Amino acid sequence: MSKLLYIIGSPRQDASRSAAVAEAFLAAWRRAEPGLDVSVLDLWREPLPEFDGDKAQAKMTVITGGTHEGAAATAWEAVKRVIERFAQADQHLFTVPMWNGGIPYRLKLYIDILTQPGFLCGFDPARGYSGLLGRKQAAVIYTSGVYAPGVAPAFGLDFHSSYFDWWLRFVGVTDVETIRYQPTLLTPDPERAFAEAVAGAEAAASRLARGSRAA
Ligand SMILES: Cc1cc2nc3c(=O)[nH]c(=O)nc-3n(C[C@H](O)[C@H](O)[C@H](O)COP(=O)(O)O)c2cc1C
Repeated sequence: MSKLLYIIGSPRQDASRSAAVAEAFLAAWRRAEPGLDVSVLDLWREPLPEFDGDKAQAKMTVITGGTHEGAAATAWEAVKRVIERFAQADQHLFTVPMWNGGIPYRLKLYIDILTQPGFLCGFDPARGYSGLLGRKQAAVIYTSGVYAPGVAPAFGLDFHSSYFDWWLRFVGVTDVETIRYQPTLLTPDPERAFAEAVAGAEAAASRLARGSRAA
């Protein structure tokens, strides 16, 4: 049975448009695979450790081949617990609203906690970085109020999906379904745009469910 971790990037709960699309995605996957095991990680409600000096020190200790002591050892254990929950899932569903051209800060904090050498990424001085999370599948629902691909720069630039998609590939996730509901606000027909996003989400869920059964 597949284990899917749904990571909520918007704090807007019932008002969240990305969450509404995510619900359609999950319903479609459950229709395809009734036994799907879904766990929810709401980045705005669950406590996450601050990625502060002790965590940064612990990361640099790993990079330089040292061993953790004192506060850095405790910090590293907290980081590892977050990584373990993430890595145990076979599939990840993310809702990613655009905030000021980029991603919300709780999602960036989550990325900073997760992206650790030896767990999600490796490094070779000659070949550079490599992602360690092969064999995972991800679906990402991007929303923005005004920005949409192809708009004039006065309506925004995309440091949002470009950054997040880069990060997924950086950690080794290459089987990625991208679903866009953009724009959610500056559109003459928000309901039609929503219906199109839902249709895209349902199709993506069917593809991923098929892929997970074949794996
Ligand atoms: C703090 C904040 C910053 C935002 N920045 C942008 C932005 O840079 N560009 C844009 O098009 N929309 C921006 N928006 C609008 C949201 O992306 C839009 O409302 C989207 O639907 C949010 O997803 P959600 O409904 O799942 O929360 C911003 C919204 C908030 C709350």
